[in-house]
This record gives sequence, structure tokens and C-alpha cells, in this order.
Amino acid sequence: MTNRYAVILAAGQGTRMKSKLYKVLHPVMGRPMVQHVIDQLNPLQLDELVTIVGFGAERVKEIIGNQSEFAIQEEQLGTGHAVKMAEALLKDKEGTTIVVCGDTPLITSDTFSALFNFHEKEQASATILTTKADDPTGYGRVIRNIDNEVERIVEHKDANEVELQVDEINTGTYCFDNQALFAAIKEVSNENAQGEYYLPDVIEILRGKGDKVSAFMTENFEETLGVNDRVALSKAERIMKKRINEQHMRNGVSIIDPDHTYIQPGVRIEQDVVIHPGSIIRGKTVIKENTEIGPNSEITNCEIGEETVIKQSVASDSKIGDRVNIGPFAHIRPESTIGNEVKIGNFVEVKKTEMGDRSKASHLSYIGDADVGSNVNIGCGTITVNYDGTNKYLTTIEDDAFIGCNSNLIAPVTIGKGSYVAAGSTITNDVPRDALSVARSRQTNKEGYVSRIKNRKRD
Ligand code: UD1
Ligand code: CA
Repeated sequence: MTNRYAVILAAGQGTRMKSKLYKVLHPVMGRPMVQHVIDQLNPLQLDELVTIVGFGAERVKEIIGNQSEFAIQEEQLGTGHAVKMAEALLKDKEGTTIVVCGDTPLITSDTFSALFNFHEKEQASATILTTKADDPTGYGRVIRNIDNEVERIVEHKDANEVELQVDEINTGTYCFDNQALFAAIKEVSNENAQGEYYLPDVIEILRGKGDKVSAFMTENFEETLGVNDRVALSKAERIMKKRINEQHMRNGVSIIDPDHTYIQPGVRIEQDVVIHPGSIIRGKTVIKENTEIGPNSEITNCEIGEETVIKQSVASDSKIGDRVNIGPFAHIRPESTIGNEVKIGNFVEVKKTEMGDRSKASHLSYIGDADVGSNVNIGCGTITVNYDGTNKYLTTIEDDAFIGCNSNLIAPVTIGKGSYVAAGSTITNDVPRDALSVARSRQTNKEGYVSRIKNRKRD
């Protein structure tokens, strides 16, 4: 098989984004655009991948890490100049090189692969991935001769009235014979409307040498969207969201309102899960069968078991078991492990806490830095007082304990197995197993006090 290489162009500033964040790092469904490009190139098992970086090079390199080699483009003199920066790494290699822009995050692996195959079958020096656009404004136009062969690409800003009418556009993705590319790139000039070295000019140069240049047209314009500003960014977001949601639905997930459900790539959802409107699911989240998420829930990096229900709640970096009931309006903060059949009700916040099977905190509690056993009942308004202003301390509540409403458990403290804490207690010492602990002042009733006061006022 022919050797295959890729060059990703990611050095531009992205002036039209009007942002301090470098263009290719702008996220689409939570993932930087350039990462989407790498993700879709990965299955092609390329021999080498070179990313051209310039603006924000350090940050871009940090994010891409060892997924790619890098070449620096110190000055952004155009896409042709950018490709030239890969010369030292690639120019002597034999094979096919795909060039992709870091700002076209929606092109799929299948399309890249079809382009490679077409190019290699045609034995062309260059093959352009083209598509027809309803509104080609801003894109380079593909100019063909009367025999319908590709002659050249003209940039929007350089195009004349007739050329502007052409609706076949350059998607910014090409396959080249590697050595033909690096030979031709030397001849690209910057005499054009933008004073830039345009990569698409290589097409005309190769034609001039009598090389074969072809075009591979994809029907799917949406896939080739180039993100130059925030309007296009929101379009990319919408297309990617739809693509991800449809994939989950085909896998057996019910998404009640796909327009208002945001599931990042990388999330795994099993069959018969139901996602209600307004839910955002991020990161490395895994959701097992028959669980219901939402409405209006935000889940980040969680592992969620089967038949669990999470309504109007936020959960992150935690493990949640089977048949758990969370919400409405609960907050599960990082490093929590929630067992099976647990209930975490309205206005309960749980942080860095382990909760054993069948334990309940049904209303208005803060449970932080706690180790809660199984079958524990945490009454309404209970607070683990975990912080003294300097350090955090652990609260241990053993199996079968019952914490009465509105109790403060001042950590470090242990509530023994099967013990009771009376409502309204402030517990500062350990409670032995099986004990009842009452830590509140006794009630005194002053008989007739109110009328005595009222009578005095009248005097
Ligand atoms: C480019 C193509 C255009 C095509 C469109 C598809 C050129 C001259 N034009 O236009 O024909 O229709 O993409 O989306 O190639 N970059 C660098 N270094 C530079 C300049 C750009 O690395 O000096 C990178 C950018 O970071 C970006 C990519 O190249 O990822 C494309 O550059 P951009 O300025 O967005 O080109 P377009 O005007 O969109
Ligand atoms: Ca672009």
C-alpha cells in the first residue's frame, strides 16, 4: 500500500473569530476543532502526521501533545507557506499526503478515506475535495475547463463576476503526491488580493506541468463547513450535536428533544436510556441501561449505573450506582461514590463522599468529606461540618445510623453503627454504636409568660 501522510494547517490566528483563543482551539461540542480533525484522521493509520502551528503554538502543541509532530510557521504568510513548513519533515518521502485545515472540524474519517482511495485510484498528482454550496461566499471556487477538468482554484477575494457564480467550492482538503506537492509549493507566489501564498495555487502549477489533477466531490456540504467566525462555529456545533445525538438514538437511546440535548463525543450510553430536554452530558461519562437523565441535568465525567434517575441536577467526576434517585436540584460534586438504591433528594449537596447502598439524604443537606455506610437515613437539614477554615475533616456514619433533622456533625467525628442522633443536635464527639445521642439544650416552657408580657406593655 502507498505510504500516507497528513498535514494539518493550524497556524492561523483566526482574526475573524475576534477572540483571544486561537482559532483551532475553539471547541465544538466541548472538543477543540483541531482535535476533531485528528480524531477523524486517526482511523486512517497514517505513517506520519504533521501539524503546522504558529499563533499560540505553545498552547496548541500542549493540547495536541504526542498525537502529532509539529512544524512552526513563524509568520502567517498563507496556507501555501504553511505547508512549506513541513518540508524538512516530509519532502523526501514517497506516498500520498492529505492536507486538511484545522478549522474544518466536521469532515469524517469516511470522507478522508474515500478521498485517499479515489486519489490513489486515479493516480493523480493532486485531488481536491470539493462540494457544492448553496452560499459559496468566502470559499475558493473550483474552476473547470470546457472538458470539465479542474484548471485551478480562485479565492473569493480574487474572483471575477463570472467566477463568483461558481457554486463548486474548495473544502480546503486535498490529497497530493507528496513529492509533487513539495516541488510545486516552491513556485507559489503571493501576487493576489491578500498578498498571501495560497496552497490552492499548487493546482494550477501542477496542471501547467502536465500533471493529472482531479476533484472528488462530496454531496455533503455540511461536513465541509469551514469555521472562520462565531456564526459558523455555532453552525458547526449544531451539526456536530445532531450527528452525535442521531448516533446514540440509532444505538437505542431515547432522546426526547435532540435540539436541546448536548452530548459530547466520547460519552457512552447504553440501550434504553432516556435523555430528557435540557441535558448536557460531558467528558468520559458512561450511562448504563434504563437510566433516565434530565430534564435539565448536567453530567460530567460520571459513571452511572442501571435504572437510575437524575432529574434537574448537576453531577461531576463521580460514580453513581444502580436504581439511584437523584434530584430534583441535587449537586453531586467530584470524587463521590454513590452506592445502589441510594436517594439524594432536593437541595442536597454531596462532595467527596462515599454513600453505601440504600442510604438516603432526601432533603436540604450538605454531606462533604464523609464516609456513609449502608441503610443510613440522613434527616432534612443535616450538615457535615467538615471545614474549620484551614483544614477539612472526615465524618464517618456507620451502617443503619439515623441522623435526626437539622443536625450538625462536627468533623472529625464518627456516628456508630445503628445509633440515633436526635433532631437539632450538634455532635462534637463520637457516638457509640446503638446509642441515642441528644446534643441540644433542654426545652423549658414558661407558663403564662406571653400574657404577662402583654399585660405589662399596657400599663
Ligand atoms: C481556505 C482556502 C479556500 C477554501 C477554504 C475552505 C486558501 C488560500 N484558501 O480559505 O480555498 O475554500 O479554506 O475552508 O487556502 N493557516 C495557516 N497558516 C497561514 C494561513 C492559514 O496555518 O498562514 C491555517 C489556518 O489556521 C486555517 C487554515 O490554514 O486552519 C485555513 O486558513 P483560512 O485563513 O481559514 O483560509 P480560508 O480563508 O478559510
Ligand atoms: Ca477557513
